[in-house]
Amino acid sequence: MTSASEHLPLPADTVVAVIGAGTIGLSWARQFASHGHPVRIFDPRPDLATVVAAFAAEHPDLASHITRAESVADAVRGAGAIQESTPEKLEIKRRLLTDLAAAEPGHALILSSSSTLPASRMAEGLPDQVAARLLIGHPFNPPHLMPLVEVVPGDRTSPESTERALAFYRSVGREPVLLHREVAGFVGNRLQNAVLREAVHLVQTGVVSAADLDSLVTNSLGLRWAAVGPFEGMHLGGGPAGFRGFMEHIGPSFAAIDLHEPDLSAEGMDPVHRQVEEAYGSRGSAESAERRDRIQADILERRNVPPN
Ligand SMILES: NC(=O)c1ccc[n+]([C@@H]2O[C@H](COP(=O)([O-])OP(=O)(O)OC[C@H]3O[C@@H](n4cnc5c(N)ncnc54)[C@H](O)[C@@H]3O)[C@@H](O)[C@H]2O)c1
Repeated sequence: MTSASEHLPLPADTVVAVIGAGTIGLSWARQFASHGHPVRIFDPRPDLATVVAAFAAEHPDLASHITRAESVADAVRGAGAIQESTPEKLEIKRRLLTDLAAAEPGHALILSSSSTLPASRMAEGLPDQVAARLLIGHPFNPPHLMPLVEVVPGDRTSPESTERALAFYRSVGREPVLLHREVAGFVGNRLQNAVLREAVHLVQTGVVSAADLDSLVTNSLGLRWAAVGPFEGMHLGGGPAGFRGFMEHIGPSFAAIDLHEPDLSAEGMDPVHRQVEEAYGSRGSAESAERRDRIQADILERRNVPPN
């Protein structure tokens, strides 16, 4: 069911404040600016001017849309939406929200990129009229490329703010998914965590090498899941009987496969770390990140091709 407010995304000339100019904040700034929003960006980092200048040099078409703000109050003046991407620390986010409560005009959406902190906890101690406009808008990195935004209201977020957030993210080209209740790690990272735990266990027990496990995923599940999710994938894989038939036929055998907890101690992780570093170097290279982003962008472009 939709309501009138869902059809009212922020006009493209509405200012969006980006608080925190790190990995996620800068990527959000790019996405909002590329959809026409004037973006005001604030971060106490001493090199903010250099960072914003480098951004403008790298994206000359967006340069006129990005302004460096001198303070939180300066950033949020007249803003219709505020996307905070400060460090993942409850006390930092709470302090920022207290500043926002004093500074912002009283109608802006307050969206947090937090990966783990629920809006209900962040809102403790805030006035109702601020808590009503605060919710999680959790992206996958980098948000200018990854379409998903997990929208997670807190227990005091108003339904209207949730609808406005969904409409806002759609209007800037993202594909928000609404979570119906707060859950640790939200959904994307819970799924990622489940796969990573089993992956570490399989490498630790010598079933497969780290590099071969990556190859196995990119050549099977990863490729499929860019086109269809696990449920639709199984529905198709189940033939005429669909997912129901698949579960009745193979479900019990799947359920009987035992999954194990990985050994996360330093000793347990050492061989896994060594395998990853042997395969990919001591840290991921810029070239590999560029290749990853290029392939993902190509897949996204292909996904927009209508089915034949
Ligand atoms: N990196 C990821 O993969 C990822 C993915 C999704 C969500 N997130 C979430 O996004 C948020 C930011 O993560 P990041 O990876 O961009 O971190 P980051 O460390 O790259 O950037 C954080 C920025 O916040 C700034 N900052 C510190 N205190 C501030 C304050 N009081 N006001 C304004 N800015 C302040 C820092 O100077 C820094 O530039 C976190 O909540 C994180 O959980 C991260």
